[in-house]
Amino acid sequence: MSPVLARAAALPGAPQLARVRGELQLEGHALAELARRHGTPLYVYSRGAMRAALAAYQRALAGRPHLVCYAMKANSSLAVLQTFAEAGSGFDIVSAGELARVLAAGGRADRTVFSGVGKRRDEMALALEAGVRCFNVESVGELRLLDEVARAHGVRAPTSLRVNPDVDAGTHPYISTGLKSNKFGVAHGEALAAYRLAATLPGLRVEGIDCHIGSQITQIEPYLDALDRLLDLVESVEGEGIELHHIDVGGGLGITYADESPPAADELVGRLLARMDARGHGGREVLLEPGRSLVGNAGVLVTEVLYLKPGEVANFCVVDAAMNDLTRPALYDAYMGIEPCTARVDVEPVRWDVVGPVCESGDWLGRQRDLAVQVGDHLAVLSAGAYGMAMASNYNTRPRAAEVMVDGEAVHLIREREQVQDLFVGERLIPR
Ligand code: LLP
Repeated sequence: MSPVLARAAALPGAPQLARVRGELQLEGHALAELARRHGTPLYVYSRGAMRAALAAYQRALAGRPHLVCYAMKANSSLAVLQTFAEAGSGFDIVSAGELARVLAAGGRADRTVFSGVGKRRDEMALALEAGVRCFNVESVGELRLLDEVARAHGVRAPTSLRVNPDVDAGTHPYISTGLKSNKFGVAHGEALAAYRLAATLPGLRVEGIDCHIGSQITQIEPYLDALDRLLDLVESVEGEGIELHHIDVGGGLGITYADESPPAADELVGRLLARMDARGHGGREVLLEPGRSLVGNAGVLVTEVLYLKPGEVANFCVVDAAMNDLTRPALYDAYMGIEPCTARVDVEPVRWDVVGPVCESGDWLGRQRDLAVQVGDHLAVLSAGAYGMAMASNYNTRPRAAEVMVDGEAVHLIREREQVQDLFVGERLIPR
């Protein structure tokens, strides 16, 4: 059994990804059957697994003023947002487009924080009009622009500074964000001056402090280091009479793709709260921005085997999902588990490179995988609920996959398969 399957089975109260009589099932639904009904490539999510993942954070924060803001960049499909909104989650957004999605899915602006290093004036205006909970501001230039936009609207913008604590999250360089060398946040050493400035700008209302140190973090220590750096600043800022109501410690908690064993959400939160208590900050509101850990292990990508090409140096298993559907392997060299949807005993396992139809050698989903497969079989790429569909593109004029959400007995088609003609919308031929 793959580590992901083993871990899924061990999650208390979480609906299981399990193999039953040879069939890989999510919440009791056979993935091969869903693929036959809805076609491939197909994303399948467990609503129960998403709810359980959110509940773990909420349980750990119970009794404290808190807000979990789902970092929706991980998976922004409307039904996913709806699931979290209905379960009391807030949202972390990084664009006006994401704000529109939150509102379309029934989420609340006053439970939404607006992050991002490059907010435009029009995006600030829309967020102010909607009444977002807070802007996580990433530079002095942004403080000044937000002040100007807020004054033009006759309001004060709720403001938090995203501080770059300069700690190493120990993760992939593309998804590590809390180092001085990263573009994110206001440098720790410049933050106090930025708060002083913010406090004098009439269009701003200083609300809190924020950080986010990276993604797919599997250790607690970098979080504690970042929190300590943040609390040092809180003490200096408040020492100057500028009150901070909340501390946002960002997202970043890792999940199991291969053999990682990240801390559970409640363990991480417990340690953070204990550190806050120990330093006398127990009463302060805590915000979190988890993305991957709420959705990653709740979804799989199902694909069909098109061709088997055994070769001299490598054996290629060509499937109908590609780097445009799931870009993580191509972009980050990321490992994602791959399992046959229906176990076979009639063929021997062969070591395959699982590749897609896109015309790039980087178009692979998994390398050197021992799989017993035949043409026409279905494979499931595991832990694909986060940064899968949300990063999909139309490269090679490939329509994006359909998405299905299983919820107990029910199976909901939450996104129709894109059609080729959808891809031409908005394009124009030049008049002859
Ligand atoms: N807050 C902020 C400000 C962020 O930039 C991010 C992620 C999060 C929260 C959520 O982090 P999470 O809990 O999901 O780790 N595409 C990459 C991951 C990029 C993460 C970007 N920022 C991947 O597939 O690994």
